[in-house]
Amino acid sequence: MQAQTGIRRRRVSSDRVIGLLVVVALAAVPRPGIAQKTNGLALTPPMGWNSWNTFGCNINEKVIREAADYMVSSGMKDAGYRYVNIDDCWHGERDARGFIRPDPDRFPSGMKAVADYVHSKGLKLGIYSDAGAKTCAGRPGSRGHEYQDALTYADWGVDYLKYDWCSTGELKAAEAYTTMRDALAASGRDIVLSICEWGTDKPWEWGPAIGHLWRTTGDITNCWDCVVDHGTWKSSGILAILDKQDGLRVHAGPDHWNDPDMMEVGNGMGEEADKAHFSMWAMLAAPLIAGNDLGKMDADTRTILTNREVIAVDQDSLGIQGYPFEKRGDIEIWFKPLAGGEWAMAVLNRGTGTRRVEFDWAREWVSDDHSHRAADFGNKKYRMRDLWRHEDAGTTAEPLSVDVPGPGVVMYRLTPQQR
Ligand code: GLA
Repeated sequence: MQAQTGIRRRRVSSDRVIGLLVVVALAAVPRPGIAQKTNGLALTPPMGWNSWNTFGCNINEKVIREAADYMVSSGMKDAGYRYVNIDDCWHGERDARGFIRPDPDRFPSGMKAVADYVHSKGLKLGIYSDAGAKTCAGRPGSRGHEYQDALTYADWGVDYLKYDWCSTGELKAAEAYTTMRDALAASGRDIVLSICEWGTDKPWEWGPAIGHLWRTTGDITNCWDCVVDHGTWKSSGILAILDKQDGLRVHAGPDHWNDPDMMEVGNGMGEEADKAHFSMWAMLAAPLIAGNDLGKMDADTRTILTNREVIAVDQDSLGIQGYPFEKRGDIEIWFKPLAGGEWAMAVLNRGTGTRRVEFDWAREWVSDDHSHRAADFGNKKYRMRDLWRHEDAGTTAEPLSVDVPGPGVVMYRLTPQQR
């Protein structure tokens, strides 16, 4: 009996050792269930183009290849745009094993060929899916296929996933997006995760650990000041979207951005409104994802989208989102702290008709509680650079007095003067 007991004891103890080894080994190996998002993929807000605002469901591989071509030939690539993002409606059916395939009529060469083409231009490819059973346009969603889909995207060479929120029923947003985050991490490829949950469940609170950017609102629409009611949902013009960013800046920073949606620059609002839209997205440190028809872009639109001085404000390495410092009716004065003690300033005219705006620097102390930065304009002089005229505009030694078109903007970069 004793001998048997002894044997049993020895067996138990060797099982324990093996169990311990397994636990130690598992703890050392990153597992999907405890994955983190892939860090460092969006240290500045992502820049690119997305098919949805212009093409909706009318996309195919020609549209995507041409977008890549135009991104290069227009100078957008040189200005910093990188992602060519395919939105909804690229999908075909799932195969017998559940792997998603692109629509064979729209993407006959397959998605890997499209990715290879986009990469050959020095650009990156984005794709779209949905956490629910179906995408917003009724194509197959990723629910129940998250790891398969992430592997498929990685295999194709996808660099960016916009992950939407239609047909999600009782799903909890943070959990559903965590599943895709973990699936992407397990795929072994660096893929930006763009959370498109429309701000419903406050993604700014849980998004930073899960994705690289999150939509803060419902869909944008191509107008300056409107909200369009579609029955079950509403889309918002530029001002309505801008106003919904209130209070969210504390949640954003390098690798985790508030996303006020893709841009409508070049889609018909007119030059001054487009400049204002682009400027305010830069002040918000927003992702700059163009949504116009790049092949039909006129010179004004190209000039706006490739304004490097405005882009530099958006892409500033500190990644601090700007804020409205003062509101005077239709006039808003915004500041954004930049690296090296510089500041960006936007004077926004929300209304119609040109307005003269005065700003007496000597009386202003601009301080930002969030970033703990301050500009004592009364005691320190700054050189001013007009970012749309591309010319120096004096210093803060003199009060500012400027005409601002309505709707429209005047935007400056303020550089501390050496004594
Ligand atoms: C949702 C998203 C949009 C777009 C469409 C596609 O509405 O918010 O940005 O992706 O779906 O169906």
